[in-house]
Amino acid sequence: MSKIKIAVQKSGRLNQDSLKLLKDCGISIDNGKDQLKASASNFPMEVLYLRNGDIPQYLRDGVVDIAIIGENVLIEKGTDIITAEKLGFSKCRVSLAVPKDVEYNSIQDLDGKRIATSYPNTVIEYFKKFNITPDIHIINGSVEIAPNIGLADAICDIVSSGSTLFKNNLKEVEKMLTSEAVLAVSPNISSENQEILNKLQFRIQAVLKGRK
Ligand code: PRP
Ligand code: MG
Repeated sequence: MSKIKIAVQKSGRLNQDSLKLLKDCGISIDNGKDQLKASASNFPMEVLYLRNGDIPQYLRDGVVDIAIIGENVLIEKGTDIITAEKLGFSKCRVSLAVPKDVEYNSIQDLDGKRIATSYPNTVIEYFKKFNITPDIHIINGSVEIAPNIGLADAICDIVSSGSTLFKNNLKEVEKMLTSEAVLAVSPNISSENQEILNKLQFRIQAVLKGRK
């Protein structure tokens, strides 16, 4: 019998809430310590624990059938991938921030300025609307440190509570987009696994309804 392969974030902000959702759907996952692949005992499902940024490509290639992933990652790397369901958790925004004491009036102030981010495509797309070509420096984590070490004039990153910005003496100046966890689907899902997905979605919808 076929099993649906679902990608879940290996570590990070989505991991726990993603596993909680599957649990609330009545799905028991037999996790071994440090195992990157696990099976459900009572549902035809295999869970693959993956890095966020790798998930869009795995969906595209059909290595996984579905994924629980932040919309912001799809906007950055997977605009071709379909979202089946918004999941209502891991809400955040993707914003631009500058040092607290820097005067900021409009996005034009960032023309020619260096911007540190893990979301280059999102920044380029956003700046296009204002006819600005940003000078992007890609960093894969701890982005908020960049202005303090002279690596950039501004940053673009996820903001949730705002505490990372605050602690690093930065202020949010543009909210570029909002995001939450979603259930994303591979364009190459088989009809057998599509049926399993339908069952899963039915359960997810019931769980989300109960949470309201
Ligand atoms: C994420 C994100 C921001 C922060 C936002 O970083 O990149 O830095 O969380 O959350 P907040 O507004 O509630 O402070 P994370 O801690 O996941 O680490 P990383 O950037 O090094 O991957
Ligand atoms: Mg961070």
